[in-house]
Amino acid sequence: MSKLWSPIVHTLTPYVPGEQPKIQNLIKLNTNENPYGPSPKVIAALQAEAADSLRLYPDPDSSRMKAAIAEYHGLQVNQVFVGNGSDEVLAHVFQALLKHDSPLLFPDITYSFYPVYCGLYGIQYETVPLNDQFEIDIDDYSRPNGGIIFPNPNAPTGIPLPLAEIERLLQANKDSVVVVDEAYVDFGTESAVALIKSYPNLLVTHTYSKSRSLAGLRVGYAVGDANLIEALIRVKDSFNSYPIDRFAEAGAVAALQDEAYFQQTRQQVIASREQLVTQMQSLGFDILPSGANFIFARHSQQPGEEIAAKLREHAVLVRHFKKPARIADFLRITVGNNMQNDALIQALKSYLSI
Ligand SMILES: Cc1ncc(COP(=O)(O)O)c(C=O)c1O
Repeated sequence: MSKLWSPIVHTLTPYVPGEQPKIQNLIKLNTNENPYGPSPKVIAALQAEAADSLRLYPDPDSSRMKAAIAEYHGLQVNQVFVGNGSDEVLAHVFQALLKHDSPLLFPDITYSFYPVYCGLYGIQYETVPLNDQFEIDIDDYSRPNGGIIFPNPNAPTGIPLPLAEIERLLQANKDSVVVVDEAYVDFGTESAVALIKSYPNLLVTHTYSKSRSLAGLRVGYAVGDANLIEALIRVKDSFNSYPIDRFAEAGAVAALQDEAYFQQTRQQVIASREQLVTQMQSLGFDILPSGANFIFARHSQQPGEEIAAKLREHAVLVRHFKKPARIADFLRITVGNNMQNDALIQALKSYLSI
């Protein structure tokens, strides 16, 4: 606390990301990173970028990257916005499109950065409870609002919302922006990008941090009607002209060009998830249906917080959220590679004495 701070700083409750501890031989299943490295073509592109040209600023429009994303999704370049991770893209979305007289709506159990952006930008919001199965129920969103945002699949539940439900929401909600945060969509959830042409108030955000294995590069993007993208560009150009550096652009373009690697690694994660679900169910866990690269699981007898602490003693890190009370016994566990998943199962067996 300091009187030197701007007043708003005293009111902020910042987001707390999952731990990145320096423990040896750590099995890190707490931040939904991809267990496989990026495509070798990405590494080659990054190496080629380490050159004299680094003394020059990057392209402020990231045109190569936008063109690659537009082509990938069958959209126009003016329907694409890129940023330093989807967190930065989302920050601009909150400021550019979601601050209105009526409250922004999002689920009560969801990505915990959303209320943080509301605090930063002074956006009023209401949370909408998930139903008893921890699902988003579209009918609960038919009320006056200044915007709607949710991840699909939702985080941390992992539960996917069918595309038909999203379309039903868009039909009923035409006067405010609907943001679908598709950070985990490539692990088995239907994308809403196909609806962009029909709904000018739909914005979809994606990240390279999960299915493209590039969390360290910080690349994310939004796609939607050119009118929405223009608002985002206005905010971005009032904030930072060069959010995508030369490495990020080169790596992002190369990642999109290696479709075979993308398909192979994402299918591997999906297959490992199904295997992990079966193994954990046999250890007494109840697991919500997941369309993501993580599962949300609770044990029939043991408290979630205690399991997380015991796993940590075995150098296996998973994510436990204390709040809200409804999810206090759940653990969010990233799907790892075979070695990591085996270590998790062995640690659980030893704790549960099975
Ligand atoms: C639902 C959701 N959206 C967005 C993000 C942000 O991802 P990034 O900033 O790495 O693109 C995350 C990260 O974990 C997430 O879980």
